[in-house]
Amino acid sequence: MRQPIIAGNWKMHKTVAEALAFVEAIKPELAGATAAETVICAPFTALASLAEAVKGTPIRIGAQDLFWEEQGAYTGEISPLMLKELGVSYVIVGHSERRQYFAETDETVNKKVKAALKHGLVPIVCVGETLEQREAGETFQVVEQQTRLGLAGLTAEQVAGLVIAYEPVWAIGTGRTATDADAEEVIAYIRGVVNDLFGAEAAERVRIQYGGSVKPDNIAGLLAQPNIDGALVGGASLDPVSFIALVRR
Ligand code: G3P
Repeated sequence: MRQPIIAGNWKMHKTVAEALAFVEAIKPELAGATAAETVICAPFTALASLAEAVKGTPIRIGAQDLFWEEQGAYTGEISPLMLKELGVSYVIVGHSERRQYFAETDETVNKKVKAALKHGLVPIVCVGETLEQREAGETFQVVEQQTRLGLAGLTAEQVAGLVIAYEPVWAIGTGRTATDADAEEVIAYIRGVVNDLFGAEAAERVRIQYGGSVKPDNIAGLLAQPNIDGALVGGASLDPVSFIALVRR
């Protein structure tokens, strides 16, 4: 049985003060164990403060990106070593916004996934098709390639321990959530790709989230699907009341 994992992707929102106020607002509601593993993926600037603030709670902290080198002349980049030092546990890799705006490719995703694993960070590897690709009937081809190339060269054990997030680009920030059945179909297909590439155990153990306009009023139907193990949530993770409703169903 895979433990559900719900991660909030704050994207470029919340100052350190706002991040700490958010944690103080949710702490009383999350003092005990939650049904799902709970992760907050915050901007780099808030990670150290958040990691300190959530000590003693079930909340884990994640970053939204990383570079694949440990150190060097890479202006503006953040290394996995730096994230580990801050107490970060997870790191989103290959989000569609990084692919769209910052030239992220399946090849750089693969380098980042390997670097994260090398330093004990759990990658949340994002895959998903654009509206044009879906309308062209290319969804399965796209997520197969992103999964295969993003996870290339990993061991079955490494794949079993990471998280994949299926985020159809056309559902991100649009309010147009994939139907439970559509999300389940694509995520079951991704699990099949993992099975073909890394074997049955890795396919059974790897956790696969859905992301794209997840809200408190639609998350239950998504998580009721046999292959959906959680959610990667943007907008609805920014409000404390909404976030609590997502993780304490
Ligand atoms: O990474 C999660 C994000 O892309 C989904 O955003 O606002 O549609 O929940 P949102």
